[in-house]
Amino acid sequence: MANTTTPTDTELAADGGTATGRPAVSPDDPRLLDLLQRLTLEQKVQLLTGRDFWTSWPIEEIGLRRMLFSDGPSGVRGETWDERSPSLNLPSGTALSAAWDTSIARRYGHASAVEARRKGVDVVLGPTINLHRSPLGGRHFEGFSEDPLLTADLAAAYVAGAQENGVGATPKHYVANDFETERFTADVVVSDRALRELYLAAFEKSVVEARAWLVMSAYNSINGTTASENDLLETPLNSEWGFDGVVISDWTGVRSVDSAKASQDLAMPGPVGAWGDALVTAVQAGEVSEEAIDRKVLRILTLAARVGALEGFEGVRPTFVEDGVAFAREAEAAGAVLVANDGILPVTPGSVRRIAVVGDNADRARTQGGGSATVVPESVVSPIEGIREAFPDAEVTWSVGAVVQEGVAELPLAELTNPVTGEPGVHVSFLDEAGAEIYTEERRATSFVYIGGDAPVTSLGEFVATTTWTPSVSGRVRLGFASIGEATFVVDGDELFTASVAAEGDELGAALLAPPSESHPLDVEAGQTVDLTVRFRKAKASGESFDGAMMFTFGLDADDSDPQALIDAAAAEAADADLVVLVVGTNSKVESEGFDRSTLALPGRQDDLARAVLAANPRTVAVVNAGSPVELPWRDDAAAVLLTWFGGQEYGHALTDLLTGLAEPGGRLPTTWPAAAADVPVIDVTPRDGVVAYDEGIHVGYRAWLRAGTEPAWPFGHGLGYTTWQQSGIRVSDTVSAGGVVTVSVDVANTGARAGKHVVQVYASRPESHVDRPARWLVGFAPVLLDAGASATVEVTVPARAFADWRDGAWAHEPGEFTLHVGTSVAELPLTATTEVVG
Ligand code: BGC
Repeated sequence: MANTTTPTDTELAADGGTATGRPAVSPDDPRLLDLLQRLTLEQKVQLLTGRDFWTSWPIEEIGLRRMLFSDGPSGVRGETWDERSPSLNLPSGTALSAAWDTSIARRYGHASAVEARRKGVDVVLGPTINLHRSPLGGRHFEGFSEDPLLTADLAAAYVAGAQENGVGATPKHYVANDFETERFTADVVVSDRALRELYLAAFEKSVVEARAWLVMSAYNSINGTTASENDLLETPLNSEWGFDGVVISDWTGVRSVDSAKASQDLAMPGPVGAWGDALVTAVQAGEVSEEAIDRKVLRILTLAARVGALEGFEGVRPTFVEDGVAFAREAEAAGAVLVANDGILPVTPGSVRRIAVVGDNADRARTQGGGSATVVPESVVSPIEGIREAFPDAEVTWSVGAVVQEGVAELPLAELTNPVTGEPGVHVSFLDEAGAEIYTEERRATSFVYIGGDAPVTSLGEFVATTTWTPSVSGRVRLGFASIGEATFVVDGDELFTASVAAEGDELGAALLAPPSESHPLDVEAGQTVDLTVRFRKAKASGESFDGAMMFTFGLDADDSDPQALIDAAAAEAADADLVVLVVGTNSKVESEGFDRSTLALPGRQDDLARAVLAANPRTVAVVNAGSPVELPWRDDAAAVLLTWFGGQEYGHALTDLLTGLAEPGGRLPTTWPAAAADVPVIDVTPRDGVVAYDEGIHVGYRAWLRAGTEPAWPFGHGLGYTTWQQSGIRVSDTVSAGGVVTVSVDVANTGARAGKHVVQVYASRPESHVDRPARWLVGFAPVLLDAGASATVEVTVPARAFADWRDGAWAHEPGEFTLHVGTSVAELPLTATTEVVG
């Protein structure tokens, strides 16, 4: 029998504590109180602001070393953002959540912790668990789901996984940070009920059950008060949920001395910030109590003890080993959602002679979203590489079909020689305002991000990159750069062009992490070397704290001069093939931190491409390489549609595992997939006069779709596998009282000819309710893996809280009968039974 229940408090607690789940180190530990007594007010206050971009202050005399914080959440970048220190690139949050599997989420946490330790990182800045309120949300790919229960269970497992391996996890961003427009200032106006039942609920288990060592406060305001000063940091987080960790700010999110009175503990980054000397003065003047400061310091010391940064405390010893690369491949397959399949999949490798692979993303795959979540992987397996490897006897062609790339892409390392070292790469030199060289480095990339690290960005006058470029194809290219500032390109000693790029809008994240670009034509010949010098002067940053940050990329713009020719060529290749794999998707200008999407349409001419390819050859598998929903107006004409999210560095391998049936598509939709943006009931992410009103209350995601009565392309929970299933025999506890649980069991049989995965989904409804409720809502789930012909009884434990509603400042239980529905999506629920909530 597969007995699957939600992990209990004790099972999830990973605080270096005892078997009872109580923290071995907590802020009231007498040893920490002793250390606190040894600190002056100035030392205490200094500890409350970062030492730099990514670290906290060390205090040698009490044996405290610095702690290193790092993004996360889908990999761990480490102290530098640099190809010389590559990171494991895991599939995006959406891929993780689509697996509907807490054991995968826990291993995701283990793998993140292993990676963090390898990079000397103490705390991972993730998981991102803000809800998918609108598919336009720029960081949708980072978040988990539109459903709070699915989010909460998976987030808690991730947190437990990281922390039982000795590394702090940071559920973020607390709270209602579900969009990016005006992200530093927007005020979310939201009811207490929606907060409790949805947005806070997403965080609750990570704190109450997995006992997160940190929580990150958001940039936005909630009901008029910015997150870092908001009472929500105290209630429910501390007072009700028993949080004893560190509330770390989002970067620059602490705005006033007054915020020190709130339960905000650590201001990042540093060393400059709103607290510092001003806070010392405020304490001396009696405006902020020293107790408030002490409480924060004790929490930071507790964190240090937990991660092993404080002498005398061992920290949690890492015990779970995870092969990151193998896990990235497995997790991607486990989260890929097969939404349609006429039987074309899986494909036996020997059965096809010619495969036409089509699409920009088949080559330049998106393996992660843009923004602070970005890591630099050592290598990426693209779909075309994966397919060539998996079908060695087939003739595999690739055509771009439609340009998806926006802005410049890096020059390939194989075409570059560093003129100083003679090795592949680029020589970089920093000049001060007087033109004197102050810093050099030898790089193996043409994309440079300096946020933290040793490069003296604040003293920079001019950034100079030199390389010898040997193009591999002849013709006219467009050479250019992306950044905010002015660049001059010198080719073989002659100036090719000088151009300035200004920030589009005032969003710092967008300007820094997804800047606009500028390019210029140049005729090149294959094999003919080009001596290239690029000089760049960065524009002054608006915010002090980001003054030391810089991003600069140089490379090539895509050639999109004749888009119809690209479509025609791809359709011609497709027409002759036994199998077409059409990879459509987004790019980093579409899905990134710093801005929201303005459309759900695929960028460029991809819809025209899809129509042309499908007309040429219906034996087409459409693979969607996007972190969040996109419109696929031609979807019914494809033989199969596979949603693969941002697939992580093993994307191409995982994809071919799925195509060939080596792996089961394990994903179920964690978020409703709309047919068209116009149908989406909750979509708006644009503040009006600085306010985003969550007027829909608790009706978000599938709850809103059910209320509107609109059909999406595919409903929440939907996903196919390669075998067939039967579910029967639902049994449910007759009654449940507040604080109790309902046990739902069903018999599940794999009736097909191969092993597979099934996700038992349990929803509740209360048709005759005095309370405004969703038509149905998810109350539990359990993935089950069974061999061909095997069967199992699956138990899902549903706590009574799942039936409660937040009313007048407390959880209320409406007595009476609730219906429990079991099935394979919110729209496909053949089994029902009832339970009675009793007083
Ligand atoms: C993001 C956070 C991130 C932080 C540090 C912020 O802009 O919102 O998610 O952890 O930067 O990179």
